[in-house]
Amino acid sequence: MRRVRSIAAVRRVVEEWKRRGDHVGFVPTMGAIHAGHLSLVRRARAGALRRQRARVVASIFVNPLQFGPTEDYRRYPRRPARDRALLRTAGVDLLWEPTVAMLYPPDHRTRVRVTGLEDALEGRSRPGHFAGVATVVLKLLEAVAPHTLWLGQKDAQQAVIVTRMVLDLDVPVRVRRGATVREPDGLALSSRNAYLDPEQRRQAVALSKGLAAARTRLRAGERSAARLRTVIRRVWRDYPAVREDYVAIVDATRLEPVARVRGRVLVAVAARVGRTRLIDNFEWESR
Ligand code: PAJ
Repeated sequence: MRRVRSIAAVRRVVEEWKRRGDHVGFVPTMGAIHAGHLSLVRRARAGALRRQRARVVASIFVNPLQFGPTEDYRRYPRRPARDRALLRTAGVDLLWEPTVAMLYPPDHRTRVRVTGLEDALEGRSRPGHFAGVATVVLKLLEAVAPHTLWLGQKDAQQAVIVTRMVLDLDVPVRVRRGATVREPDGLALSSRNAYLDPEQRRQAVALSKGLAAARTRLRAGERSAARLRTVIRRVWRDYPAVREDYVAIVDATRLEPVARVRGRVLVAVAARVGRTRLIDNFEWESR
């Protein structure tokens, strides 16, 4: 696994691979690598066409622009040595670890805003978050210029917003999603799970349990969004440490609330467990 820091170095390596006809997949991360990140690396490894060699680029960059003033930028887990070893073992060919100064020159002012989509769901509790995400992802894509960008379903709104941005700005990349990787009890893997104490960790399962109950009801034919939200909230009553931020059923690409489930919808939840904010979701397609 090669490691680089500068934008120029990342460009040089990827340009050479593309000249040779290799397929370049890209997995951006903020580090604190876990099995969710690694599953995206594995998907990227397998992502080349027949006879094409797959090359996987990963980045580690804790992006200050996507953290609010009261959020956890300073205490966000940073474990570079461990992260490098995990990514190397998973098959990353090139690891890019830019510094903040490399991506944000003094006096930087440009922001990418995906209007409408950034104000829904997560956007309400995290103003400015998705402008930070869209801006950094566009910058990372400009530098790496991969054929394929791999994102996790875990952060569904992020994937929707980045997909919209790529379409709107004609960025020549294919956006693909990897399924959410979970702990054995259902909790979605997240770097922020490390903040939970043992009792909070036990109760954090409420998010995936609520979603599983909603999915069961969808399978049984329930189509009322209000009743599905009630199903989730009823499950949450057994977990007093879990405080709802939102329980939402929205159109899967426009992220607008629906009253009845038709076509492709996203069932998305966010809750606080202690001081830690957790999210989870699943997509559902009605036929
Ligand atoms: P980070 O939270 O490190 O996540 C990096 C990628 O891993 C994202 O695409 C995320 O959706 C995916 N991921 C996280 N948990 C997952 C899980 N349990 N299963 C599957 N995939 C999972 O998301 C970010 O970083 C940043 O916002 C970033 C896109 C890097 C921009 O700064």
